[in-house]
Amino acid sequence: MRLVTTFVEARRQRRGVVGLVPTMGFFHEGHLSLMKAARADCDTVLVSLFVNPLQFGAGEDLDRYPRDLERDHGLAVAAGVDVLFAPPLEEMYPRTPATSVTVAALSAGLCGPARPGHFSGVATVVAKLLGGLQPQRAYFGRKDAQQLAVIRRLVADLSLPVDVVGCPIIREEDGLALSSRNIYLGGEGRTAATVLWRALSAAAAAVEGGERRGAVLQKLVATRVAQQAEARLEYAELVDAEDVEPLEHLDRASFLALAAHVDGVRLIDNVHFWMNEDGRVKPELGVRLDGPSILYGER
Ligand code: PAJ
Repeated sequence: MRLVTTFVEARRQRRGVVGLVPTMGFFHEGHLSLMKAARADCDTVLVSLFVNPLQFGAGEDLDRYPRDLERDHGLAVAAGVDVLFAPPLEEMYPRTPATSVTVAALSAGLCGPARPGHFSGVATVVAKLLGGLQPQRAYFGRKDAQQLAVIRRLVADLSLPVDVVGCPIIREEDGLALSSRNIYLGGEGRTAATVLWRALSAAAAAVEGGERRGAVLQKLVATRVAQQAEARLEYAELVDAEDVEPLEHLDRASFLALAAHVDGVRLIDNVHFWMNEDGRVKPELGVRLDGPSILYGER
């Protein structure tokens, strides 16, 4: 595997079909699942690692976001990655960018109000990565479902020649969706955080039992989360998977997303709903690990 720090060097490594996995590092099995999907599909697997200041708001965790290049390097080698692109700030933003990409409508709901500017920061850096690295495919997790919708729309609106591939949520043994930020949780917070998965599982079960009303599903999630005193729900909302518009009735591809604060950490999670051809709805909660995550030290 080659570790490179400039766009020019990264482009030089391209052979055949190139798959890009954009990340902010501190890898866990969620990131590794994207690398694995890219490895199965592509000739060159390129992983970018850059903690993007543009997408962090004032008072967010930019300074304490976990960083460990040596650890990530080893994990990328083991995942069969060909090129790890870890640019310094001066390579990514030699000057303060005067250009910004905003996918306005899709950024307004869900996490939008709590994180002003966040999705523009994401869309701008992803546009730079797609432009500077020119992959044929780019892999993103459904864990960040609103982000994935924003990126799909960015690619469609700007006619970028790349296939965006969405991948399932990878969860810890007890259901908590993997996130680099899980390491901020203390013991009690870590236990309390599993309420989010339980609430979404209850919504999935209700849908399997025939429930289709968005308001009822949202209420069910809110009631479940409220039973855990240490969790404070910011939102729970059923939205169209493509345009992220609120959905009164579950009659198309959609997701029920939530954000909650647990032990001072803001967590997001969701369950996707797919429509079968016969009109049945298939909930997708993702995949659970059968052992402890690499987030908490080597196995
Ligand atoms: P980061 O949080 O490092 O996530 C990188 C990719 O891993 C994203 O596509 C995210 O959705 C995916 N991912 C994270 N946790 C996951 C999980 N539990 N299961 C499956 N996939 C998961 O998302 C970002 O970085 C940044 O916003 C980025 C797109 C790199 C732009 O800076």
